[in-house]
Amino acid sequence: MKIYKERDYEAVSKRAASLVANQIKAKPDIVLGLATGTTPIGMYKILVEKYNSGEISFKKVRTVNLDEYRGLSDTDKNSYHYFMNEILFSKVDIDLANTFLPNGMAKDPEKECQAYERLLQSLGGIDLQILGLGENGHIGFNEPGTAFIEKTHLVDLAESTIHANARFFENIDEVPKQAYSMGITSILGAKQILLLVTGESKAEALAKVINGPVNEEVPGSVLQRHWDVTIICDQAAASKLGEV
Ligand code: F6R
Repeated sequence: MKIYKERDYEAVSKRAASLVANQIKAKPDIVLGLATGTTPIGMYKILVEKYNSGEISFKKVRTVNLDEYRGLSDTDKNSYHYFMNEILFSKVDIDLANTFLPNGMAKDPEKECQAYERLLQSLGGIDLQILGLGENGHIGFNEPGTAFIEKTHLVDLAESTIHANARFFENIDEVPKQAYSMGITSILGAKQILLLVTGESKAEALAKVINGPVNEEVPGSVLQRHWDVTIICDQAAASKLGEV
């Protein structure tokens, strides 16, 4: 694991955006695995700036998102599809036909999960997977206790995750109780992984991911088994790491 401890959120976003931009330059038709949530917003904003200044193009880039709420359509303001359109897709020259998320409105969850896995394969796998970290150590929506062997699957969200995500909704009852998520096996299939972690509320989870035993109670700990993981965190998130 390569670990970068940055001063603050801004510096984390900058370093992450530079890393992603360099990968896009090296492979213009890169397959990027994308995360939503608060953590990568700063990075996406800087990537849009880099596009506006002519430094990078998304023309050939292909994207697959980690997850999507079940029951929300791409026009629902709380869906991850809507989020991606707003924060990135509508602001760069990406071909929307090359952007993929699980379909929250799929009638048959089982089929949707299988189709998403086939899609990952047909794209030739993920070159660079961007991840955030849940306060409970989740990656994607792989909650504590999820078997490492899982591929894309339908998840019952943990109570703590529903509470953490309620900030985006009018009230907590509106937060979907289920989501589609790439599984740990799908994530570990990526050639390179970039984990972004900011804020004190993630400090304990990050310490377990890096220094703790690898076990399914801390889904992020499985990253210790991947050959190419870069972690970029701020000082607050690193506060329980000791010297790394
Ligand atoms: C989002 C995702 C989640 C988030 C995690 C952290 O696509 O897969 O695992 O990365 O919940 O969320 P934030 O960044 O909002 O703290």
